[in-house]
Amino acid sequence: MGKIELKGISKFFKQEEVIKDLDLTIKDGSFTVLVGPSGCGKSTTLRMIAGLDDQTSGDIWIDGKRVNGVPPGMRDVAMVFQNYALYPTMNVHDNIEFGLINRKVPKKEREALIADIAEIVGLSDYMKKKPEMLSGGQRQRVALARAMVKKPQVFILDEPLSNLDAKLRHQMRTELIQLHKRLGTTFVYVTHDQVEAMSMGDEIVIMNKGVIQQAASPLELYNDPANMFAAQFIGTPAMNILPYKGLQLHTLSASSKEDIRHFGFRPEHAQLNLGQETSVEGLRIGGEIMTRESLGAENIYQIQSSFGMFSIKTFLAPLILDNMVTVTVPYEHLYYFDNSGMRLRQAEFRVASNEPVTSERALELISVGGGV
Ligand SMILES: Nc1ncnc2c1ncn2[C@@H]1O[C@H](COP(=O)(O)OP(=O)(O)OP(=O)(O)O)[C@@H](O)[C@H]1O
Ligand SMILES: [Mg+2]
Repeated sequence: MGKIELKGISKFFKQEEVIKDLDLTIKDGSFTVLVGPSGCGKSTTLRMIAGLDDQTSGDIWIDGKRVNGVPPGMRDVAMVFQNYALYPTMNVHDNIEFGLINRKVPKKEREALIADIAEIVGLSDYMKKKPEMLSGGQRQRVALARAMVKKPQVFILDEPLSNLDAKLRHQMRTELIQLHKRLGTTFVYVTHDQVEAMSMGDEIVIMNKGVIQQAASPLELYNDPANMFAAQFIGTPAMNILPYKGLQLHTLSASSKEDIRHFGFRPEHAQLNLGQETSVEGLRIGGEIMTRESLGAENIYQIQSSFGMFSIKTFLAPLILDNMVTVTVPYEHLYYFDNSGMRLRQAEFRVASNEPVTSERALELISVGGGV
């Protein structure tokens, strides 16, 4: 079984600590995605799991066995890279076969396995072609097939789709999701694209500067981000984060007020107030529309307010051309953060599904420049 545990992992390159005391459990059979900005340590983490790099300290366990110092070939892990790493002089068949010869699998068994896997990844008609005669997507399939013939417990994929154009990438995403379902094997997948992460992963690990910011399901990350970084990393456009200063609060407890430095809300949770007074209980912010973008079913506006610039996303409403607008953000969609960027959940107002929002329960009554 392909459960992976990283315990107290750190990694130094010379004096620089690029992974800092990392703890992570990757569930057996999960599709786990590591996501984060360039240089945050995603590839380094994968390479340590695969055994291509040694951690400076800490333990790695695969399937209940401690694999510190175990060479890559003995870890029951197969890795697929961004640049495919195919042998250019060998045809598709031989590229797939190479690892099997090394592992002394008998010829008859090899051929059966290769035929099987070529069928799964849709390469049966290309077995005699050299890599240079293949498209990017076909090359990536060869790399996948080569990993699959090893029948590993764990697949490790480092940005395998980033060399493909948008359409093919989309298609390969779907294929990889299906492949994962079919194999039932643990997939550990790296990308810096949050949309890819959200659409593929059943568990997402957000990293920044060698530190895990949050590990959770896509929905949990979206609804319940642990901190400002995670909040802004997931979602398009990103969550608006504005300085808390200037909000006039009446009902928050003094202690939580003191700690709040920023508040945030997702662009899709702000409602444009059109004409008449809205009955929605929430934070009203007024401002001037700076840019408008129509994407067909949805419109995105950048609005300059006394708190700073924020964006909103509306669906199925005609494009608003007025310059001055007011938006309402329902109280239950406001997030608060302290000066280190951590969420202040205790300060937030959340509505239980069976309880209507009443004015008595509203946390804040505010008045803001340009507003209602
Ligand atoms: N062999 C190496 N020697 C020295 N520093 C390295 C080495 N490999 C990686 N690093 C450094 O470690 C940090 C993490 O690198 P890593 O390749 O893991 O990032 P990444 O998250 O995969 O980024 P990207 O999205 O750009 O691929 C970076 O600051 C990088 O410069
Ligand atoms: Mg990388």
